[in-house]
Amino acid sequence: MTAAPTDTREPLLQVRNLKKYFPIKKGILNRTVGSVKAVDGVSFDIFPNETVGLVGESGCGKTTAGRSLLRLIEPSDGEIIYQGRNLVDLNTKEMRKVRRKLQIIFQDPYSSLNPRMTVEDIIGEAIEFHGVAKGDEVRSMVESLLERVGLQPSYVMRYPHEFSGGQRQRIGIARALALNPDFIVCDEAVSALDVSVQAQVINLLLDLQDEFNLSYLFIAHDLSVVRHISDRIAVMYLGQVMELADCDTLFGRAFHPYTQALLSAIPLPNPRRKAHRVILKGDVPSPMNPPSGCRFHTRCPSCYEPCRTIQPTSVEVEPGHFVACHLYDPEHTTKDSSTWKSLPDLQWIAKGGAPANLPPAVQRVIEELTGTPPPETDGDRGVPEEDATPEEEDATPDEEDATPEEEDATPDEEDATPDEEDATPEEEETPDLDESDEELDLEASSDMEETEKS
Ligand SMILES: Nc1ncnc2c1ncn2[C@@H]1O[C@H](COP(=O)(O)OP(=O)(O)OP(=O)(O)O)[C@@H](O)[C@H]1O
Ligand code: SF4
Ligand SMILES: [Mg+2]
Repeated sequence: MTAAPTDTREPLLQVRNLKKYFPIKKGILNRTVGSVKAVDGVSFDIFPNETVGLVGESGCGKTTAGRSLLRLIEPSDGEIIYQGRNLVDLNTKEMRKVRRKLQIIFQDPYSSLNPRMTVEDIIGEAIEFHGVAKGDEVRSMVESLLERVGLQPSYVMRYPHEFSGGQRQRIGIARALALNPDFIVCDEAVSALDVSVQAQVINLLLDLQDEFNLSYLFIAHDLSVVRHISDRIAVMYLGQVMELADCDTLFGRAFHPYTQALLSAIPLPNPRRKAHRVILKGDVPSPMNPPSGCRFHTRCPSCYEPCRTIQPTSVEVEPGHFVACHLYDPEHTTKDSSTWKSLPDLQWIAKGGAPANLPPAVQRVIEELTGTPPPETDGDRGVPEEDATPEEEDATPDEEDATPEEEDATPDEEDATPDEEDATPEEEETPDLDESDEELDLEASSDMEETEKS
């Protein structure tokens, strides 16, 4: 999953087929008996001044991917191209020089700062080590960095325990900035902070990005936070990237069943609105022995024949939007309507059939099933034009998802009570997907439990 072929920008970093297998050793002889496939063939590009969000369930390999691409842990395979060189091929001395430009901010501001060192030592260490400044110059550099991240320059002689969590994270950011980097991995950089402090730190990161032309790989659990900061988002599952798209596309029209399930879990800000939350059954399988074929097949509601045996390849379903799912692969897609109906979210079909940019073979399948020709979007990645009435543009997320009947609602209907809005799926008429005139089931399939939240 890389950049769109139409994208003419020069990437800052190109990650190709990155793998990290941790060996499992056992016995007195410490024999390798297996491996944890923490990252298993991840590819993406990061452009200058861009933030790529990396999301996925705990243990899916986000941290390992972030650290491997800085070579803080040695990748097992793959390429990391930076300034025309493959970082994996660099020796220790060469890597040390490059590392100045590639930094990391850690999740836990309490454990990532040495409690026995002053702020001056923590931030100044790298400045001195890399010969950027010496003596008094280091102190004044540290002071100006502290000021830049919103801390008092006079704090230079303080120790980490004298700061709050948010302030410590600012020290971590100052440390990462000290060597004037191009790229920073922010590994759950705001996850340990409370919401108001999170917002301050994110705004600081955004300001610094503009000021220093930085690129970020922003690793986080919280999709709302990732949405706020990212230009593009990669969704990981069990060591692999399942979907990659720009932020608006991913939130507006996610195709992968896993992404759709993750998005359904985001709480809605309006308590009167119902959320169709899809809870995936079962645990994430072990990365020691990942499922064959599609790694998500053991939990996917749309799993069908090729999924158990053939690993999906990443398909660029529309410019810059990559999905690793057989449904969107012209070679393996299916005309079986029940498989399509099992997708957690079919609103994008309900809104007007297949997006015009889907691969033609997949488009034909959806057209055949829905009887709807694709809307003319002339390459636009947004919602099909015909959907964008002024009312809808102002609509809340749920209103945007309204069925045709709801869109034609009279003012009275629009002012419906919560009960009316909580219409059961049967009450919502949607376009037919099946030739047999069955109603499109926009809810989760029987393979998934669904809870409704007010
Ligand atoms: N040093 C290690 N040795 C063996 N296995 C490891 C090691 N580090 C990580 N793993 C395993 O690799 C997998 C991915 O771990 P990783 O920390 O990258 O996940 P993550 O997505 O960052 O999770 P979280 O969201 O909880 O931080 C996990 O199964 C983990 O147990
Ligand atoms: S439909 Fe198949 S390939 Fe697509 S996510 Fe589900 S199991 Fe994987
Ligand atoms: Mg992690």
